[in-house]
Amino acid sequence: MRALCWVAADEMAVREVPDPELRNERDAIVRVRRSSTSGADLPLLAGRDPLLRAGDVLGTEFLGEVVEAGPAVRRHRVGDRVVVGASVACGGCWYCRRGRHSCCDNGSTDPVTADPGWGRSDAGCFGRPPAAGGFAGGHAEYVRVPYADVGAFRVPDAVGDDRALFAADAAPTGWLAAELGDVRPGDVVAVWGAGAVGQLTARAALMRGADRVVVVDRHEERLRMAERHSGAEPLDYRRTDIPSELRDRSGGRGADVCVLAVGAPPARSVTERLAGRGADRPDALHEAVHACRKDGVVVVLGGAEAFVDAFPLGAVTDRRLTLRGAGRPDLRDVPMLLHRMARDELRTEHLATHQLPLEDGPKGYALFRDRADGCVRAVFTP
Ligand SMILES: NC(=O)c1ccc[n+]([C@@H]2O[C@H](COP(=O)([O-])OP(=O)(O)OC[C@H]3O[C@@H](n4cnc5c(N)ncnc54)[C@H](O)[C@@H]3O)[C@@H](O)[C@H]2O)c1
Ligand SMILES: [Zn+2]
Repeated sequence: MRALCWVAADEMAVREVPDPELRNERDAIVRVRRSSTSGADLPLLAGRDPLLRAGDVLGTEFLGEVVEAGPAVRRHRVGDRVVVGASVACGGCWYCRRGRHSCCDNGSTDPVTADPGWGRSDAGCFGRPPAAGGFAGGHAEYVRVPYADVGAFRVPDAVGDDRALFAADAAPTGWLAAELGDVRPGDVVAVWGAGAVGQLTARAALMRGADRVVVVDRHEERLRMAERHSGAEPLDYRRTDIPSELRDRSGGRGADVCVLAVGAPPARSVTERLAGRGADRPDALHEAVHACRKDGVVVVLGGAEAFVDAFPLGAVTDRRLTLRGAGRPDLRDVPMLLHRMARDELRTEHLATHQLPLEDGPKGYALFRDRADGCVRAVFTP
């Protein structure tokens, strides 16, 4: 089959790779109809993950049709149109039983690598190196979906492919961020990053009853899109003192919940690249900690940087902040989000600014990486 593979830093290519096969009785094979780029791919594209190998297939967010199901698959049949959650989770471990699929104990196929780095591995993920499961991603004609009853969800007929696609990752991640932030009616929420994840975090916060949601970025067209489609208030960080503006918009107290949905920027130097560190993200983290009200919550969504120096820990202690993080979405929210999509409460198709055949994958990634031509997400059709 044809698949979009990472080749080397800033180089992707569509190649012929072996077709995936059922390897476990709970697997399904899905023929892909749509797949999307994600901000989490950018550090991989830049070659910042030493475990990524030339030929690995990227793509965390995809939707397709079941073409084969293992004998233990109960909820799906051949022909079902399904969206596949980005997290690969077993459904039966301590965390999965409590709905925290992103923390699954049995998703990573290489905990030996993950454990020393993070303390303990989290769920697997499509289109990621072995520490995150080593599962081939969705930028391909077919994908093997492990634990298919847990991670694949039938798409209601009323929801089109371009909308349902984002129920795989961006929408459940945004929902999880609002939940981890414990967003309540009346809250003022600030979201750094107006990519797909930031925009859907803003939308989730408003759906949970937030009074005001401010989205911070520097890309005009993304800010305008967040305003138009999510009802968020845009702020350009190049022109505004964000913490002081947030105090003004929250009766002087600061944002109740601050969410970091910023992409990892390209490393500015070889030293940074070797250190696995970009430049902007720690700034945004400091800003969010400073802008958060006392007793508020700061939620950090993934990103590539494993270590951030000079973290303002004193502010967390003295101002009684809660710091929460998530590197993957949970799966339990996907049916609810599809339901909201079917009722038109959640619209996401505008995020797919660039629709391309899979063969144009390298071009799509270049547009997405450079945020060129107003690209928010490049979506591929095999
Ligand atoms: N936790 C999860 O479950 C999960 C899932 C998917 C993605 N993510 C993470 O969410 C982040 C966003 O994903 P995306 O697809 O929207 O990425 P994206 O790259 O499309 O968008 C990121 C946005 O952040 C902005 N940004 C960068 N630095 C900033 C700063 N200092 N202040 C304000 N804005 C800044 C960029 O201009 C860009 O518009 C990524 O870091 C990704 O790794 C997390
Ligand atoms: Zn599990």
